[in-house]
Amino acid sequence: MEIDLADLGFWRRPLKERHEAFARLRDLDRPVFFEEKRVPLLRSGRGFYALVRHADVVEASRNAKVFSSEPGVTSPEPPGWVKHVFGESMVNMDDPRHARLRRIVSRAFSPKMLSNLQGDIDAACARIVDDVTASGPGDFVTQVAAKLPIHVICDMMGIPDDVRAKVHQHVDISTAYSGVRPSLAHTVRMAAQNTLALLALQRLVINMGRERSGAPGNDLVSALVTANVDGERLTDRELGSFFTLLLVAGNETARNTMAHGIKLLTDNPEQRRLLVDDFDAHIGGAIEEMVRYVSPIMQFRRTVTEDYDLRGLQLKAGDKVVLFYGSANRDETVFPDADRFDITRDTKPHVGFGGPGPHFCLGANLARQEIRAMFRELLTRLPEIRSVGEPELLVSNFDNSVRSQAFTF
Ligand code: HEM
Repeated sequence: MEIDLADLGFWRRPLKERHEAFARLRDLDRPVFFEEKRVPLLRSGRGFYALVRHADVVEASRNAKVFSSEPGVTSPEPPGWVKHVFGESMVNMDDPRHARLRRIVSRAFSPKMLSNLQGDIDAACARIVDDVTASGPGDFVTQVAAKLPIHVICDMMGIPDDVRAKVHQHVDISTAYSGVRPSLAHTVRMAAQNTLALLALQRLVINMGRERSGAPGNDLVSALVTANVDGERLTDRELGSFFTLLLVAGNETARNTMAHGIKLLTDNPEQRRLLVDDFDAHIGGAIEEMVRYVSPIMQFRRTVTEDYDLRGLQLKAGDKVVLFYGSANRDETVFPDADRFDITRDTKPHVGFGGPGPHFCLGANLARQEIRAMFRELLTRLPEIRSVGEPELLVSNFDNSVRSQAFTF
């Protein structure tokens, strides 16, 4: 099998075949360069070096001065006009600009804020399981996994109930855009829809911010527009792009972990038994192992800022590297028997939430809290719950996204 990570056809192959391809790349002495084709309207470079070993992904994540997140971390990189329309997202910035924004918004993820959310998360999980009990078996993604993360983000931001359906709709359009695009016509259509959806989300939160700066409530939007961290506060555009980042970063990822998670627990009955027999002892390990095994975000890109020697590979300023988290998380030198789902393994060094460095996932603890609460509710109230058949996956080089997964209970 020929391997070309820059060819979208590669991402249409079954997951098992892709894992085998990455195992072969990890065995090579050096990271391999993949040439990229030019996609009209999108910024695309000459190509990238694929970092597929755990040690290489960690080295690049740690060394953010050399491995820059600017001008963008997605593949292909966002074209220049995106910044002008939407403002910049902190995931695509380097320190000190990144650190300033992260300092302001990280208040939303403090242990105190997260513990305040617990009651709401538990209540949402209980409602989801009430609905499942009433409606009966069907699709785990629409009935369970897709419901919780977006609800939690909307609650954090204080999004009124009557506009939540619109928010869902816009987020779904954006998610579909992250999939592989088969043709130029399709790319243009999806890009236009995505732009309109993101603009609508931005407008919504900017208007809320303006209203709440005069009459603040207990929500995150109020906190962000009234907060003053070292004399700094978010501008309208920064608030707007943070909201869309939260929706894009925090929604799909947690939902895909849960959707893959129910299948992993079904396919590995002995692991499930361990978890059910002592939920509190094992749920922490089970979540880390799900994130390692699934790697909901499969890759992010960096741009090299100065000549650098990476394991004998002479990188030049301007080169692109892509960090393949899913491959690093199956690196046998760090995770023995890496293709085995084992909730008791030491998964601490996994890079599912990003490598160690300034961009490590801001929402990791929130995601853990959501997944823990959802599986507690499901396994307690529906002890026979299980997936049926294979999932339908989104064809994407970025999100390891489950479109649907049949289930019963
Ligand atoms: C299982 C669930 C999740 C996974 C696997 C995940 C994965 C990641 C990864 C790999 C990054 C690193 C980006 C980089 O290195 O450039 C990241 C960053 C980020 N994540 Fe998550 N994420 C998850 C859940 C969430 C949630 C629930 C939220 C918020 C509601 C969130 C918000 C963010 C933000 C704001 C960043 C950017 C941090 C920065 O640039 O400083 N994530 N995430």
